[in-house]
Amino acid sequence: MQTNQLNGKRILIGVTGGIAAYRTAELVRRLRDAGVDVRVVMTANAEAFISSLTLQALSGNPVRTETFDEAAEAGMSHIELARWADAVMVAPATAGFIARLANGLADDLLTTLCLATEAPIAIAPAMNRVMWASPATQDNVARLITRGVAISGPGEGDQACGEVGPGRMLQPEDLVEQLNDMFGTSLLSGVRLLVTAGSTWEAIDPVRGITNRSSGKMGYAIADAAVRAGADVTLVSGPASEPLPASVRKFRQVTSARDMLHTVMDEIDGQDLFVSVAAVADYRPSSVSKRKLKKQNDDVLHMEFIKNPDILAEVKKQKPGIFSVGFAAETDNLVSEGRKKLLAKRADLIAANFVGGDFGAIGSDSNVLELIDRSGVTRIGPALKSTIAEQLIEEISVRFHAQSTLQNTR
Ligand code: PMT
Repeated sequence: MQTNQLNGKRILIGVTGGIAAYRTAELVRRLRDAGVDVRVVMTANAEAFISSLTLQALSGNPVRTETFDEAAEAGMSHIELARWADAVMVAPATAGFIARLANGLADDLLTTLCLATEAPIAIAPAMNRVMWASPATQDNVARLITRGVAISGPGEGDQACGEVGPGRMLQPEDLVEQLNDMFGTSLLSGVRLLVTAGSTWEAIDPVRGITNRSSGKMGYAIADAAVRAGADVTLVSGPASEPLPASVRKFRQVTSARDMLHTVMDEIDGQDLFVSVAAVADYRPSSVSKRKLKKQNDDVLHMEFIKNPDILAEVKKQKPGIFSVGFAAETDNLVSEGRKKLLAKRADLIAANFVGGDFGAIGSDSNVLELIDRSGVTRIGPALKSTIAEQLIEEISVRFHAQSTLQNTR
């Protein structure tokens, strides 16, 4: 685990009726080891899989199962319990529980608590792979994501029912890590950060256009990591296939490079940091036909392009004091091309990555970055983009704070 953010936190663990419930005992033990005050709430079905006595012994607190249990309500009412929690994690979360949560039901203590709490909620789904893939479950999960519920897993592998596939509850250590991440860090606390992500779409006619394969994964992971590092994040995104991170509250959708420039300039006042991850088209068709272009007799079609504005360079020109981070997407000479972009765009840091080939950064889940600034080159990765994003935010925060200190002492 990175820095322990869990020490002293109050976490409510919900247990629903699945075979993975036996692993919740290990989750509770690990949370206690990390200094967490743990309270456990079980559904009636969960009691068929694990005894409340086990969880009581491990958590050091009475386990609750009933909404109105006279003795328990006398200690801490269910509403007080909902207010008490700094975070709620339901592990395992069955398909039935997910459906009830998505529909706002309050028909037992756990669903009532989830409805009554203002604390962040995470669920660790665990079920048969077909139940997980069913459109009903996927719809319910999508609804929960839009409400800010974090979905931890599920993992893939052998299932208790004898099948193989997605639906296993994540390992207790991974769930502890995810809870730790929910409390974030304070590396960029109070800092305003604007990030661009995704591709751009440069129209040719009403149905066709020029774009690229950026999925938004890298930029969205950076936006999410920045929120968890305490930054006030605005995300400006062109077309992307990746779902928006639930943590990001300020979002502007754009289409073309010029849209992106206008929106960035509209949002730039008061920003401290600009991270330009978007794969912006360097050129656009010089004219856009209002009608769909017809096929011509000639085998070759010539098209004229004009240069798009360079958003990264423009931001630094208009706001020289901002700390700007650019990306360089290259097929060759990564570091030397990255250095050229550092100087040409007057960026404070360039994160250079390979695109193209089997292991290119574009569209993939993982990446490797060469971080280039005026003092040298640092490599991060290979790793999943979520991990790369966290490490990049750490690297940016060190340089950003060093520069701010320097500016303040001048
Ligand atoms: O979205 P994913 O599938 O996860 O893929 C991630 C990524 C490969 C797109 C990302 O990691 C990345 O490399 N983004 C930058 C892509 C790019 O446009 O690179 P570039 O070398 O062409 O541009 C250099 C920098 O200038 C970039 O910061 C870019 O955002 C910026 N730029 C470029 C052109 C332009 N007109 N305006 C700009 O601001």
